[in-house]
Amino acid sequence: MESGRPKDVGILAIDIYFPPSCVQQEALEVHDGASKGKYTIGLGQDCMAFCTEVEDVISMSLTVVTSLLKKYQIDPKQIGRLEVGSETVIDKSKSIKTWIMQIFEEYGNTDVEGVDSTNACYGGTAALFNCVNWVESSSWDGRYGLVVCTDSAVYAEGPARPTGGASAIAMLIGPNAPFAFESKYRGTHMSHVYDFYKPNLASEYPVVDGKLSQTCYLMALDACYNRYCSKFEKFEGKQFSISDSDYFVFHSPYNKLVQKSFARLYFNDFLRNTSAVEKDAKEKLEPFSNLIGDESYQSRDLEKVSQQVAKTLYDAKVQPSTLLPKQLGNMYTASLYAAFASVIHNKHKTLVGQRIVMFSYGSGLTSTMFSFKLQEGQHPFSLPNIASILNVSEKLERRHVVPPEKFVETLKLMEHRYGAKDYETSRDTSLLTPGTFYLMKVDSMYRRHYARKDA
Ligand code: ACO
Repeated sequence: MESGRPKDVGILAIDIYFPPSCVQQEALEVHDGASKGKYTIGLGQDCMAFCTEVEDVISMSLTVVTSLLKKYQIDPKQIGRLEVGSETVIDKSKSIKTWIMQIFEEYGNTDVEGVDSTNACYGGTAALFNCVNWVESSSWDGRYGLVVCTDSAVYAEGPARPTGGASAIAMLIGPNAPFAFESKYRGTHMSHVYDFYKPNLASEYPVVDGKLSQTCYLMALDACYNRYCSKFEKFEGKQFSISDSDYFVFHSPYNKLVQKSFARLYFNDFLRNTSAVEKDAKEKLEPFSNLIGDESYQSRDLEKVSQQVAKTLYDAKVQPSTLLPKQLGNMYTASLYAAFASVIHNKHKTLVGQRIVMFSYGSGLTSTMFSFKLQEGQHPFSLPNIASILNVSEKLERRHVVPPEKFVETLKLMEHRYGAKDYETSRDTSLLTPGTFYLMKVDSMYRRHYARKDA
C-alpha cells in the first residue's frame, strides 16, 4: 500500500469449470452435412462443450465458486463484492449473483455488493472492471472481489450452431496481484448495431447476422487497438506495437476469427509504421495501404497476406491462448478468460515480468482492449499454484465425448424446458465429478432446486 491506496490491483486467482459432455467438431461436420474441414479448419475448432439437462449457468457458477474458495482456502467472509457476467437469461429480474449468495449466506456473509452485468460476451469484462474499480476506490473495505463469467452458448440449427460452447470461470480480485491491471491503457469502443442479439425472450437462441458480426468484431478491434496505443504513447512517451506485449488474448467465438484478429493488429502496426513490421512484410502489405473504410474488412487478399506475414508472431504470442477456446467453443462471457487461462496453463513458468494484452468483444456492441503486467504472486497466488489449481489437462482429459445425435437431442429437450416450470431432471450425475452442483427440478413457482454431488 502506498498513500493508503492498494497497489497492483488485478487477478489474484482463477478457476474454471466446464461440463463433462462435449461433441467433436469433425463428427458434427458429418452429422450436419457440412463439407469436410469446414468446422475444424474453416472455423478452426476442435471440440464443443455443452450443458446436459442437469447443468446450467447457475449450477456451473456454484461449482466454480465453491471450488475456487476451497482450493485457495479463502474464507467466504473475506469476499466483499461479487460480480457476475452472463448473457444466458434464466430470470429477467433475479440475478445469478443472488443464487451464488447461498455459498456466502452459509457463512453468515450477506455483506456482498454487486449484481449481474449483461451485454453479450462483454458482461464478464464489465464485471471484472466493476471489481477492479471497487478495490481501487474509496469505498473498498479491504476484502476481495470475486468475478464470475458463466454462459451456455447454444444456437439454432444452422451455420452458427458449431460456434456454441459452455463454461464458468471465477476470478479473485485484490491488490498485489500476479496479474496486475495496467488501468491507464484501456481502449474502448461502443456502438449501436444489430449483429447478434436475443430479442425473442421465449427462446434461448440468439438472432445472428454472422457476416456483420465478423466485420463489427474487426472494426471494434481496430478502434480499441488504436485507442490503447494512443493511451500507451501518452503515458509512456513512446510508440506501442505488438512487440511490446508477450501475449495477445482475444474473445474467441471460433479460432479462425482470432487468427484474423491478430493479422489485423499486424496490419494496424504496418499502417502506423511501427518497427514491429519487417521489411519484406511491409513490401507485401504495401498494395493494401490505400484501402479505406469497409474495403479493408472485405478484402480477401489483405486477409490472406496479413495472416501469412503475421504467422510467426501469431504462433508465439497468440497460439498459447487458443487451447481451451478450441476445445470448448465460444463460452460467451467466459471465452476471453478461458483463453487467458490457457496462457497460464501453457506459459506459467515464464510469465513473470511479461505483459498480456486482452481484447473483449460483446455484440451489440461493446468492446475494450486492456492489459496485465505479470509479477510473481505470493502463495497461494503464485503462478505455478494458479496453473496447478486450473488443472487444465486433467479436466480436458476426463471429458466424455458424445455423438452429435445425443447433442442435438439435448438441445431439443432444452428448447422445451426453456422458460418452463414444474419439471424434474433425470438427476443423472454419472458424468459429473464429486462436488459438482446440478439441477434437480424447477417447481410450480419456477423456483430452481439444485443439489451437490457428494464430494
Ligand atoms: N474446409 C476448410 N475451410 C472451409 C470449408 C472446408 N470444407 N468450408 C468452408 N470453409 C471456410 C470458409 O472459407 C470460411 O473461412 P474464411 O472465414 O477464412 O473465409 C470459414 O470456413 C467459415 O465458412 P463460412 O461459409 O463463412 O461459414 P458460415 O457463413 O456458414 O458461418 C459464421 C460462419 C458466420 C461464423 C457462423 O458460424 C456464425 O454466425 N457464428 C455465430 C456468430 C459469431 O460467432 N460471430 C463472431 C463475433 S460475435 C460473437 O462472439 C457471438
